[in-house]
Amino acid sequence: MSDTTDAALELAGKHVLLGLSGGIACYKAAELCRLLVKAGATVQVVMTEAAERFITPVTMQALSNRAVYTSQWDAREPNNMPHINLGREADAILVAPASADLMAQLAQGRASDLLTLLCLARPLATTPLLLAPAMNREMWAHPATQRNAAQLVADGAFVLPVGQGDQACGETGDGRMLEPEELLQELVAHFQPKVLRGQHVLVTAGPTFEAMDPVRGVTNHSSGKMGFAVARAAREAGADVTLVAGPVHLPTPRGVHRVNVQSAEQMHEAVMGRLHEASVFVATAAVADWRPAAAAGQKIKKAANGAPPAVAFVENPDILAEAAATERARNGQLFCVGFAAESHDLAEHAKAKRARKGVPLLVGNIGPATFGRDDNALLLVDEHGTEALPPGPKTVLARQLVVEIARRMKG
Ligand code: CTP
Repeated sequence: MSDTTDAALELAGKHVLLGLSGGIACYKAAELCRLLVKAGATVQVVMTEAAERFITPVTMQALSNRAVYTSQWDAREPNNMPHINLGREADAILVAPASADLMAQLAQGRASDLLTLLCLARPLATTPLLLAPAMNREMWAHPATQRNAAQLVADGAFVLPVGQGDQACGETGDGRMLEPEELLQELVAHFQPKVLRGQHVLVTAGPTFEAMDPVRGVTNHSSGKMGFAVARAAREAGADVTLVAGPVHLPTPRGVHRVNVQSAEQMHEAVMGRLHEASVFVATAAVADWRPAAAAGQKIKKAANGAPPAVAFVENPDILAEAAATERARNGQLFCVGFAAESHDLAEHAKAKRARKGVPLLVGNIGPATFGRDDNALLLVDEHGTEALPPGPKTVLARQLVVEIARRMKG
């Protein structure tokens, strides 16, 4: 299962009103619409007259599988009020691209076409409005646009960040619309309960690599996917998140601060230096238990007599146990969560590991069955006993785990 297949579940049951105002970024709205549908959402597209100059309603109808609305005078609705009905049906309104002019109109409460009308008429308490600005860098930086963006936020809209880079006009700077995949992630995140708002979560993920010489080393099969999913879920739940990652080739989840390390000693240093600002520490990394006592400065050559090199190992620091023994963890300011990758007798080993590491929550999983895969099954072990989170995508399990962590912190 790929990340995109995971995403197949992420907007199931959601009805999204996708609004397009005029801008060259309309071409990205086609891909966005496709991703939203693939993620399980039903999508109603509404386009302004200017948007129709950039992309046709035919394209958007084919991708959304629904007739597109472009006018407040559209008589298809029995009560002739598309500006009311369309907004009432939606779980969220996402305007992508949101032009400078559309933002200016919304900031002033003006409603000259169907899209601005339905944004103004939306029930403020229940229908979130997300705006994905897209414009030339000078237009974005202009005090009027910045003033409008601030006003929209004050009025309860969510103004998403802009991208940075080459623009259609040939200039380079801030103001590009986020990529469709990023907008999908923003929307999915928007729907997650903010159970960790105000918390700072530190996560370790992936394997470590313990060098023997400049070209060889000892590592393991951990893919880092579970830890990256936990970091993403914690971010979606409103936390500030720092992810200390061993050598893996995974994209950094949106909004997460990533620190790359190689060895257990580097991971240890990166974690210990950041524990003072963390309120939650989740250790998902498969830290190598031992490292070669001394890494050779040069490549170890084969001996003439065929004898293998004698490599002596020393134990690595136990990052989790050390974190759990800190003053902050002991007086309740730092909630530590450990993982246990076992091959057999999961519950027994997980319980013993929880006690040995001194953590309130230990999450067990069967290592060989999960390394490198997109799905997993978890066993939560705390002072009250065990609780199974049934098999599912790691993204889904990570969100459940985040809720469980938040619940235990409150308790
Ligand atoms: N861990 C850690 N630092 C280490 C070893 C482990 O922080 N040097 C953390 C892991 O990130 C995980 C938990 O401790 O959250 C358990 O890791 P695991 O390798 O299963 O435990 P070990 O103590 O190494 O036990 P064993 O390998 O004997 O099962």
